[in-house]
Amino acid sequence: MSKRLKIGLFGFGVVGQGLYDIIKTKNLNIEIVKIAIKDPTKKRSLPADLFTTDREEILNNPDINTVVELINDTEAAFEIVSRALSTGRNVVSASKKMVATYLEELIALQQHHGTSLLYEASVCGSIPIIRNLEEYYDNELLHSISGIFNGSSNFVLSKGYNDNLDYDAALKEAQDLGFAETDPTSDVGGYDAKYKLVIAAAHAYGIVVKPEDVLNIGIQTLSANDLKYAREKRLKIKLVPVAKELDEQNVAMFVLPKFVNENEFLYNVDYEYNCVTVQAAFADQQFFYGKGAGGHPTGSAVLSDIAALRYDYQYEYKKAKLRTDLKFTNDIELNVYLRYEDEALVDVLNFIHIHERFYSDSYKFVLGKIGLQDLIANQQRISDNKAFVAFADQLTGVSLASALKHNLEVI
Ligand code: HSE
Repeated sequence: MSKRLKIGLFGFGVVGQGLYDIIKTKNLNIEIVKIAIKDPTKKRSLPADLFTTDREEILNNPDINTVVELINDTEAAFEIVSRALSTGRNVVSASKKMVATYLEELIALQQHHGTSLLYEASVCGSIPIIRNLEEYYDNELLHSISGIFNGSSNFVLSKGYNDNLDYDAALKEAQDLGFAETDPTSDVGGYDAKYKLVIAAAHAYGIVVKPEDVLNIGIQTLSANDLKYAREKRLKIKLVPVAKELDEQNVAMFVLPKFVNENEFLYNVDYEYNCVTVQAAFADQQFFYGKGAGGHPTGSAVLSDIAALRYDYQYEYKKAKLRTDLKFTNDIELNVYLRYEDEALVDVLNFIHIHERFYSDSYKFVLGKIGLQDLIANQQRISDNKAFVAFADQLTGVSLASALKHNLEVI
């Protein structure tokens, strides 16, 4: 017999409402006791006495044994989740920035208080990847995880490539559809994808990395010339997070735009859809595909975690406990495409090898191999120059799939 869950819900936005719609259709031995909201003036679809603006009404209610946190404020979310875990409540959260930023503290809190925090919905919405990385790939040697982890930026890229819609109009549409973050820089700048990558890597490899240590370069500076070039080469541009085990001691991670060809799974993942590709030693390449944003898809992942709590499921973080030899590194080289205006930028980036250069009055690019550390050191300069950088193995003759599969030094 499953445990009866009495839930205190924080947040009733797109995901909170999506969750409520789904719960209504089920008979799961769960009850939403109270919903904490920020804005009491907003018109709600449920009786007023279900709502409160006082978080203490949930956190101090001894009747509530489960907290579901679906708010937009990272610091407030951490405070709520920490207090709930410390007072014997199990928690479900969809806050990727909060989980990625405070993962170490959250793991310690769970271990100290014997409580459980589940966050499947925080990574790629409806795609069940965290529990799979944690449980299913428990004994597998994972060479890499990669994919499309941000629906809004993928929406903007697909609208530009498939429908010729300009960047601002496409981003506005993603916002209107409820996919984009309050600050869309998080989406188009690759931050959101990075938080999800950090969380996924903790369950894939057992390494807990601070988001600020991982490079993210986004699509804000993408130009019509970049898209035209990609089309001529029969490639698409996607924003791709990568975590790759280089050897038995080192895992590299970064988020970069990437040229993808039609043989890659990512090529046909368009609009708000997300995907995760897992390259494993024995299972070989696997592909998870689904909606990464939106109320009902994300709500379905939240509900799956809630349902798991009825049986006291918790992440064991087994890999973190067992694989203490594995470390995060930025000490890698990769092939990139750099579209730029200022020649000085090419000089400071210290290309190790230049594969191709192109100059015209309106369009200049260089294709070559570069140290990830040099990209990190010059990230601000790249952004100030409005230069566009993309991971470009498909343009230099080494496919990402084969690079990842054969564990080459160059990713
Ligand atoms: N802003 C996110 C996205 C929402 O566009 O993917 C889901 O995390």
